[in-house]
Amino acid sequence: MNEAAIGIFDSGMGGLTVMRALLDRLPNENFVYLGDTARLPYGTKSGETVLRYARQAADALIERDVKLLVIACNTASAYALGALQIAIPSIPVVGVIEPGAEAACAAAPNGRIAVIATEGTVNGGAYLRAIRQRNPRASIIQKACPLFVPMAEEGLTDGGIAAAVTQHYLAPLKSAAPDCLVLGCTHFPVLKNTIRDVIGSEIAIVDSAATTARAVKATLESKSLARNGLAPGERKFLVTDALERFVRVGQVFLDAAIDPAAVELIDLH
Ligand code: DGL
Repeated sequence: MNEAAIGIFDSGMGGLTVMRALLDRLPNENFVYLGDTARLPYGTKSGETVLRYARQAADALIERDVKLLVIACNTASAYALGALQIAIPSIPVVGVIEPGAEAACAAAPNGRIAVIATEGTVNGGAYLRAIRQRNPRASIIQKACPLFVPMAEEGLTDGGIAAAVTQHYLAPLKSAAPDCLVLGCTHFPVLKNTIRDVIGSEIAIVDSAATTARAVKATLESKSLARNGLAPGERKFLVTDALERFVRVGQVFLDAAIDPAAVELIDLH
């Protein structure tokens, strides 16, 4: 079991920002990443549909004998974490929202927290619940920023258009003077510089990738599932469509080249 890979899934390539943090923290682990590129975005779909897609993605990774499952997608974590933990009792299932909420509470001494995410994540209220569990007196303001997803994939991460859209979304949040801003979507970390310019230097920016990687490492250790030895791990990728685009655009999110030979096209059902 220790040699088995860690499975990661996302609606597309945004979850590669979470994989980046996992690779940095766990360089000797084997990873298999599934991007459901045929059905992206999840963030505008109903909770029922996101749950169905998430179950199919999880099944595909379980078939490949993963030892731990990371739901790298915030929207899928919001709608499917509990259901997948119940459906797959044999391995740990880790989402990105709980670690994100943990990091947000640590970065908000006055309990004033702003969350930006997809429409699905905002409407599902998972960040509200996860933050309130840790700090019942927290004052939380949320804002859906759907345009950030295609902008990140287009490479529109800085310059005039990026600044104008960011200003449009973040102006109402800024006036609430939060202690921290949670990037509650896989795609948003690549817009971090523009978000920082617009939101100002006093507000901490929290991204769940690093805290999720910490949670995964702690889980591997507590369950004695860590890979033995120091040999570098293998990285494999599964996509449901547009393999060439995944290789090309995915490197922006992974911050490293993706070997096309390591990417396989699959169907989910
Ligand atoms: N991965 C999604 C998330 O983190 C963003 C992209 C999508 O809408 O599918 O919520």
